[in-house]
Parts: sequence; structure tokens; C-alpha cells
Amino acid sequence: MTIEVRKLAAPMLAEVVGADTTKPLSPEDRATVNQALIDHCVLVFRGQMLEPQQVLDLADAFGPVEPHITVKYRHPDYPDLIVMTNMDENGEISEHETARGVGWHTDMCYMPLPAKATLLHTIEIPEEGGDTLFANMYMALEEMPQTLRDKVEGLQATFRYGGRAADRNLRLEKTDQDKPLQAHPIVKRHRESGRESLFVNPTHTVGIAGWDDDAAQDLLAEVYEWGNQERFQARHAWRPGDTVIWDNRCSWHSATGENPRRQPRRFYRATIADRPH
Ligand SMILES: [Fe+2]
Repeated sequence: MTIEVRKLAAPMLAEVVGADTTKPLSPEDRATVNQALIDHCVLVFRGQMLEPQQVLDLADAFGPVEPHITVKYRHPDYPDLIVMTNMDENGEISEHETARGVGWHTDMCYMPLPAKATLLHTIEIPEEGGDTLFANMYMALEEMPQTLRDKVEGLQATFRYGGRAADRNLRLEKTDQDKPLQAHPIVKRHRESGRESLFVNPTHTVGIAGWDDDAAQDLLAEVYEWGNQERFQARHAWRPGDTVIWDNRCSWHSATGENPRRQPRRFYRATIADRPH
């Protein structure tokens, strides 16, 4: 069966139909889905419940899988996967864990080589709520007023896990909590598409390299306000058996944290490095 890619929302998001993700994809199909990710920024594969190894095989179609920085969430048998859940160690719905992933951000932007993509596969989802939001940062940059673009062009922003909120950092191992700030350009070129996008985000960005903090926060606030417009955004409502992968280099994402029935939410998550195999 040939793979078909169907666009779902205007700013980004497409469904991949006809891919059997229970088996490793053929080289042709790997190339097709990777190109679809570059073209649409977010892809959904529907209706296939996957085991950890199948999740890793699908992630590998997009690039080399690398372990995530949050060691405490790693899968005990598959350390390249982390388990995203809203439950604590006792299986109780936890406000702290529910808040994980809420707020616009990109994954691993605080590392020397930010992640290419992140893949989430549903294990268990609530009957309502729990959607994930995405925002297209190519569009945010392309449509940015020239006056604002002139201000950010050529600047480097600084990043660390959790940004300016010191408590988020406590999810990390002690040795990872005091890493030096990582710098990346605010306007960053995508390795595969060659296009530029807006790379700072309100969760993990700390400041602007070489700038006075007040001035940096003023400019960043202006940039975030611009980026946070509904016309750049798409919403994914999860269904059982969904696998979603997004391109971290040109998009923001945020969990909504909505869970009106206080039901369990669990995903396998894989992170894909921004380098070829
Ligand atoms: Fe994330």
C-alpha cells in the first residue's frame, strides 16, 4: 500500500495514511515520511497500538534516536524512550506531572544540538481534554513585521532546561542542573529544509547573549507575543493508537493540561537527534 499524506490544518499538521508502523518502514517509505515531516512540521499516524521497540523503529525512520535529559522518566527496559504520564509513582493523578509540557516550548533547545523531532505514542489517554497544541515558527518569522525582525536578526539567545523558572530544573539529575547556558540564534536555519524560523521560546529561553537582562526580557516578550497568535497554531486531539511526531526546529508545542475527568494519560516518547544516520 502506498503512503498518502493528507494535510489536516492550515498552518501545519498532516496525517500519514497507509503506513504499517508495526513493522520497520522500507527505505522508500522512510524517505517519504521524513519529507512529509519537513513539509508539514507535524505528522499523525493513526490507529496502531505499538510496543516500545516498534515506537523506536518508527522514530528511527526520521533519524538517530537519542536519550532524553530527564533520566528519572526513562523507560526501565528501553532507556531511549521516556514515559510521559500525569501520574505520580503511586499511580495517582498528580498536578505536578500534569503540568509537564504545558507552556510553549521546543524540546532539547537547551542542548548544544537541539532535537530534530519528538515522537509521542499513546498508551493511555483521557476521554476528554489532554490535547496538544503546535505553532509554526516558519510562519511566525515570515510574517513578522520588518521592524521586529530587524531587532532579532543576528542575535543569539541563551537557553537552559526550564528557562528562568528554577523549579522546573529540579526534574533533572543534580549533575545536570547547573549546566552552563547554551546559545542558539534567534533566527535559525533548518538543516534539512534550508528555511529560517524563529527559534526562541517562552519556556526554555533565558535571555539574549551579551544583552542587559531587562532589555532582553522586553524584546523576548515582544517576540513571544508575536509568535503566540492563533493563526500560526494547530491543535491535535488525541485518539487511542495515535503516534504524533513534530519537527522541533521550526515549531513550538504545548500540552494543554486539561483533564476534566482526572483520568490517566501516558505516552511513550522518543527524541530524534538533528543529524543524519
Ligand atoms: Fe515538549
